Amino acid sequence: MTAGFIGMGKYVPSHVLTNADLEKRLDTSDEWIRTMTGIEERRIADDSTDTSHMAYNAAVEAINNAGIKPEEIGLILVATVTPDRPFPSVSTMLQQQLGATNAAAMDISAACAGFMYGVVTAKQFVESGTYDYVLVVGVEKLSKITNWEDRNTAILFGDGAGAAIIGKVSEGRGILSFELGADGSGGKHLYQDEKLVMNGREVFKFAVRQMGESAESVIRKAGLMKEDVDFLIPHQANIRIMESSRERLGLPVEKMSKTIHKYGNTSAASIPISLVDDLAEGRVKDDDVIVMVGFGGGLTWGAICIKW
Ligand code: ACO
Repeated sequence: MTAGFIGMGKYVPSHVLTNADLEKRLDTSDEWIRTMTGIEERRIADDSTDTSHMAYNAAVEAINNAGIKPEEIGLILVATVTPDRPFPSVSTMLQQQLGATNAAAMDISAACAGFMYGVVTAKQFVESGTYDYVLVVGVEKLSKITNWEDRNTAILFGDGAGAAIIGKVSEGRGILSFELGADGSGGKHLYQDEKLVMNGREVFKFAVRQMGESAESVIRKAGLMKEDVDFLIPHQANIRIMESSRERLGLPVEKMSKTIHKYGNTSAASIPISLVDDLAEGRVKDDDVIVMVGFGGGLTWGAICIKW
């Protein structure tokens, strides 16, 4: 028996912050941001919309999409580096708000790779027969730790949430392979010191190398070849990083998920948000072999190869 995605949901705040808006506040330009990152606009949550609020909305959609009841969930995993507060965790807040009375709950801190860490953890519990359903949410309110005076970082990030119900799927489908990893020696390149601090160039180099290696690794572990891959969902950090992974896999442009232009980098939420849009817009279809790959502060990385 394999574990796979059986329901998906997302939430993005309604307020749109465009590159033109940023031009008014910072020494930057729409042209620079588009060319260097691929971002055109991002969503920003207002003061009354905290991380748990976004997580809740995405989770409700995923539960309904899976056609299950909250009481059937055995574990809630929330991947975030921007919880409402250090504790109680966002996952316990969700547990209460959803009425998931039989669920254990914990948050995962693995930055932008957090959703991958959550999905792989869920897979272990489902395949061992411990839980029937695990709710995994990737959610960030990065706007509250963004230094809005720093043009190197303020242009990159957005807020949002994506959620998945992981449960049993039929043999031959679901999560075929995974890879998780970390390199704490790179922690100095991306961290929170009240606000987010980043050495963009170092993170960029790491990301290009790691995204490609991890994607190839999960394809190999699944016993497949690059030619077998139908679709790539990379963490939406920078279009140039994403393109380098796509080219390494030899996939055409239309076989890569791209939502960065409308949401920016939403960290742990970027992969599930993209998957929801890819499903809604028909880019992901039954039987597709999909590679999802993320990297983030820590440094951390994670990838899965899945048959949809
Ligand atoms: N507008 C205009 N100019 C800018 C801006 C801006 N917003 N930001 C930087 N510049 C300038 C720099 O000052 C520099 O000017 P100089 O040459 O006169 O010194 C020039 O543009 C080039 O700057 P670099 O930082 O060297 O540009 P780079 O090609 O590295 O692109 C970027 C910067 C887009 C941030 C890139 O490094 C990147 O995307 N890095 C990865 C970031 C990332 O993926 N982070 C993931 C975070 S994941 C998580 O866990 C939250």
